[in-house]
Amino acid sequence: MATRVIEVAPFDLVVFGATGDLAHRKLLPALYHRDADGQIPDDARIVGCSRRDMSDADYRAFATQALEEHVGDLERETLSRFLERLTYIAVDAAGERGWNELAASVEGREDVVRAFYLAVSPDFFGPICQRIGAHGLVTENARVVIEKPIGKDGASAKALNEAIGAVFREEQVFRIDHYLGKETVQNLMALRFANALFEPLWNAAHIDHVQITVAESIGVGGRAGYYDTAGAMRDMVQNHILQLLCLVAMEPPESMDADSVRDEKLKVLKALKPMDADSATRLTVRGQYRAGASAGGAVPGYLEELDDPGSHTETFVAVKAEIANWRWANVPFYLRTGKRLADRVSEIVVQFRPIPHSIFEAEAGEIASNRLVIRLQPDEGVRMQVMIKDPGPGGMRLRQVPLDMSFARAFNVRNPDAYERLIMDVIRGNQTLFMRRDEVDAAWTWVDPILEAWTTSREAPKGYTAGTWGPSAAIARIERDGRTWFEDLI
Ligand code: BG6
Repeated sequence: MATRVIEVAPFDLVVFGATGDLAHRKLLPALYHRDADGQIPDDARIVGCSRRDMSDADYRAFATQALEEHVGDLERETLSRFLERLTYIAVDAAGERGWNELAASVEGREDVVRAFYLAVSPDFFGPICQRIGAHGLVTENARVVIEKPIGKDGASAKALNEAIGAVFREEQVFRIDHYLGKETVQNLMALRFANALFEPLWNAAHIDHVQITVAESIGVGGRAGYYDTAGAMRDMVQNHILQLLCLVAMEPPESMDADSVRDEKLKVLKALKPMDADSATRLTVRGQYRAGASAGGAVPGYLEELDDPGSHTETFVAVKAEIANWRWANVPFYLRTGKRLADRVSEIVVQFRPIPHSIFEAEAGEIASNRLVIRLQPDEGVRMQVMIKDPGPGGMRLRQVPLDMSFARAFNVRNPDAYERLIMDVIRGNQTLFMRRDEVDAAWTWVDPILEAWTTSREAPKGYTAGTWGPSAAIARIERDGRTWFEDLI
């Protein structure tokens, strides 16, 4: 199936951290794909910046290697056109080296979109923005892109946002949460708001509970240093999982306009029932993986990888969240995420309530409640569990079957990486899929007391064996409510 591609406006994309992991794995491959599809105009350039001394040719070699590794089948013509766009300047984020060269390289191009992508540690967000401002590089068409983590709590997020806000207006700030760029996450909006079917049922009267699972089979590996300062709550829940929750729970926005969507998400975040020390103990479970087996091989535990036997950082978290508003009163949202779990799977499960009365004999079998499963990855798709009559003679026997829509099978298109969509949205100036400052603040307002309760309790996270579904306490937590985690779908 052909996809429609609309060329974006000419741009200069200045990438700080251009030799880092994100640029290598995600940004360069995403830009190459958009170029291959004809979305990038001739007059678009990418300026790589980092501390390392490198020539343009060295940087092109770095990019070629990144593309060979992460794109695979490269077209010669596209590759040479893409490489032509790249230049490199050695710049000190927190010093003066390179800034004059950078200013000279964009001079005279005030009319094109100018995007600064800060693919660097958040410690450098402030210093880089300050220098961008001091060198007069902020044009009317300028934007800045930042990656999470935006702070480690509400106070540090505020400080970061203020440093950025001193140079860029909010309409120029693009806070990436790459989960919002995933195809199925956008599909959640299409499913909810382009169909009449779901909306009348999308509330506490018809929905029993919602589960959001983002399970990873990988461990922290080489990221242990960063990860130990974050943990699963800051790394996944404060951003990705709360954003998913918002898209499931928000009221229909007036339009797809950035502020309409973000206003509705903000209301959900503000309606999250706050936790105190007592509810944090009852409603959350922290875990940390121990040695076990993953993908058939033996793997070390988190503490061995980190080489610090005393760390209490959680690599798993399960939370029972509640949204205190009319639509969702008493509908629990069970959230969980973890590293080194049994499988890599992200899905949202909407469990409907049972039918009010059965007209069938007991022999017809049990009537399972309807369930909508939105699978984010792998094998993106949507599945609705419904009851039907078992086909054939033999009386009325009921059975549960899936109405199944696998996007890969249904549409023969390559599933674009989230960064492809998001980078193009930056150039277009469309902030719908980016977090507004008040959303980040509201998410921290809910997360901070939980983190605080964990720190005060000084209890160690519960151990779980790598390659399992997390600590048994997480299973016990949901089963206490007479419910269970879904692990066997799609
Ligand atoms: C990142 C986290 O934001 O998301 C990582 O920092 C995590 O720890 C990653 O592995 C998961 O992203 P995806 O797209 O692979 O689900």
